[in-house]
Amino acid sequence: MKDASRPIGIFDSGIGGLTVLKEVAKQMPFEDIVYLGDTARVPYGIRSEETVIRYAIENTEFLLTLDIKMIIVACNTVSAVGLNHVAEIADVPVVGVIKPGAEAAVKTSRNMKIGVIGTEATVQSSAYYREIKTLAPHAEVFAKACPLFVPLVEEGWTEGKIATLVVKEYLKGLRDTGIDTLVLGCTHYPLLKNTINSIMGDRVALIDSAVETARVSKYLLEEKGLLRRENPNPYRRFYVTDSPERFRHLGERFLGSPLEWIKKIELPVSPSVILRNKEEV
Ligand code: DGL
Repeated sequence: MKDASRPIGIFDSGIGGLTVLKEVAKQMPFEDIVYLGDTARVPYGIRSEETVIRYAIENTEFLLTLDIKMIIVACNTVSAVGLNHVAEIADVPVVGVIKPGAEAAVKTSRNMKIGVIGTEATVQSSAYYREIKTLAPHAEVFAKACPLFVPLVEEGWTEGKIATLVVKEYLKGLRDTGIDTLVLGCTHYPLLKNTINSIMGDRVALIDSAVETARVSKYLLEEKGLLRRENPNPYRRFYVTDSPERFRHLGERFLGSPLEWIKKIELPVSPSVILRNKEEV
């Protein structure tokens, strides 16, 4: 059904994808948005490919019950290892964060020495490496997994002594490579932007894939005639698989604004819920 008034669906392993939601809401202010944070099973970044794919499929099946018009996979880890599995079962356009991030990096870099930081799973998948090399075969890509960045951000330690120490330790190898562009290849990393910038210096451009992903999603909706041009009261609804209270607390820090509508759900979604959701929308 081609109907622009349907909501955009976004999912992530937890709260991190709110950095993407924030950009989507900024660039497409009239859109209704439903967000699923799989907070009971976060983090995805340390899990096997098989497990991440299973979670991604279950998240997609849930969002599809809400009659969405597009799925944005905000999670870099899922985008790296499971995007085609999501696209296979979804009958709506699917946008991940890897390709937009890689495109922006190639456009930004002058010396074609590009750094990528992300979770273990994202770095091991070489997804950014492949995308960058497809766009610019002569580019040199330097990737580094930074597993402590996610808990650091969730603890709220995005600046200060501890953040600086941890960021410095992980990025010290990258500083000597001569990169002029660094992809922040994880939902949480944009919150560490100031600290990363202070370590890498102003000559290294930081690519926030959230901004690029929102831009690509808007372009796609526009192209398909599905972009909303007006909506007096756009809603943001949040579904989580664990405590709504913890999500609210951390989420408000990520978004910088109150989260009013949060509901806990179980995954995988049962047939009775599929039916109920379809009746409600
Ligand atoms: N959302 C994940 C990502 O962007 C980070 C958190 C996790 O490991 O689940 O890769």
